[in-house]
Amino acid sequence: MATQDATDGSTGSGAEPLRESTPGERPPGPDGVPVVGNTLQFLRDPVAFYDRCAAFEDDVVAYRIATSDGYMLTHPADIERVLVTDDADFRRASIIQDSLGQIADGGLFLMEGEDWKAHRSALQPSFYRDRIETYAEMMARFSDERAAEWRGRDSVLVSEEMRTLTLEILAKTLLDVDVRGQESALRDAAAAVSDRFDAGSLSALLPLWVPTPANRRCQRAVKQFDEAIADIVADRRASDGEFDDLLSILLDLELDDADAEAQGLTETEIRDHLFTFLFAGHETTALTLSYAVFLLANHPEKQARLHDELDEVLADGGEGSSADAASPSASDLFAFDYLDDVVDEALRLYPPAYTVFREPTRDVSLGGYEIPGGATISMPQWVVHRDERWYDEPDTFRPERWTEVFRDALPEYAYFPFGGGPRHCIGMRFALMEAKLVLATLAQRFAFDPVTEPPLDLSMQLTLQPEDPIEVALDER
Ligand code: HEM
Repeated sequence: MATQDATDGSTGSGAEPLRESTPGERPPGPDGVPVVGNTLQFLRDPVAFYDRCAAFEDDVVAYRIATSDGYMLTHPADIERVLVTDDADFRRASIIQDSLGQIADGGLFLMEGEDWKAHRSALQPSFYRDRIETYAEMMARFSDERAAEWRGRDSVLVSEEMRTLTLEILAKTLLDVDVRGQESALRDAAAAVSDRFDAGSLSALLPLWVPTPANRRCQRAVKQFDEAIADIVADRRASDGEFDDLLSILLDLELDDADAEAQGLTETEIRDHLFTFLFAGHETTALTLSYAVFLLANHPEKQARLHDELDEVLADGGEGSSADAASPSASDLFAFDYLDDVVDEALRLYPPAYTVFREPTRDVSLGGYEIPGGATISMPQWVVHRDERWYDEPDTFRPERWTEVFRDALPEYAYFPFGGGPRHCIGMRFALMEAKLVLATLAQRFAFDPVTEPPLDLSMQLTLQPEDPIEVALDER
């Protein structure tokens, strides 16, 4: 894509589309074969397919996967229109409804219309800033305990460790359940579901009832997950304790039905919400942490700068806190500028949600092209976050680029790891606070040395996964 002059890492010069409108013209795109279009190219290597589409240097690229006409949008102004300005003209894409909908179609992620609005506003209080801050102490404590377990070890599979830690934290904060040591049913379900929806596998295109090995594994894992969740819900219903978490909100929620009668949620609705939150909430944050640790391990000078900041801020026992110097707390987070930049840069280079899909409910015009209602629109963070128009040396890990000037000059939606508009990630604050607290705690205790080195092989599952576990060597500080 076109490069512009950049002195501070940004272009900052407006966000005009690259091309003029040419009514009726089809956007450029990779050649396909009859009937299946680009399906085989995509299945062979989804990451390469996205990169190939990006190489057309147009803001709209057309392709065809399975039976669906796809349009990749990469201009921030078009993305803002879809997610924010004209969001009423777009809904969740059928490919997501047809895939994830087979497992949890009643969760917040897939709901639409008035139903979604009512559920989103009822669940939002669990994610308010003051509520999230009450989780900080527990997040820091769990990270502390994990760091203690790492003592004496030469290396860790950081991607596996982070998946377990973020699941423990989420189960404790949202359900008040301590799953430490027995998280396997929840964790295995998430891994099997993610694997089954690997964009590079044929099983992702087949219905869940087709007995492929991945489908069978997925169904078994979902069954175990359902049993684990049913037990947690039953225990809570039987308990006469006082609770103040997402599960208690779900169990007490009463919403008007079509006849304006207040109704509690069904067991299926509660299960679908819990599945959605547990899945959307732990895998994504675990990946953010894993990629951040991987990047730091492979960039010792950036890691040294982070260590300096951590040592400086925590040396006096933490800014505004009487906490033990060894334990970063929520109030310390305000003082960690470089930590913020590291997390933002990791989310730019390796966005766990690597694309956002939508489907226009009617014919629309975007980036100068007509896009038919019912088409699949993909807005890939994977491509936009590495666009030279907005990022100088886009493939380089450079947390320093995130100056105030750069942030102010960056077009809205040139960076959108948490989506945008009314359906932006409800867990964004939670995820950022958790990622920063965990990273601060672990990086304060250890220096990470590279075992897994770049380039990383990536796999586009429901989230952007490393093909093999990420390993780092540990050096106690
Ligand atoms: C770094 C971590 C995370 C990333 C990168 C991330 C990313 C995203 C993105 C891009 C969306 C919008 C998808 C779309 O518009 O199609 C989204 C939605 C959502 N996220 Fe997250 N997320 C993260 C953490 C979390 C956490 C911690 C939770 C819950 C505890 C969560 C729960 C959800 C839910 C329920 C939605 C659907 C919201 C709705 O449609 O109203 N996410 N997330």
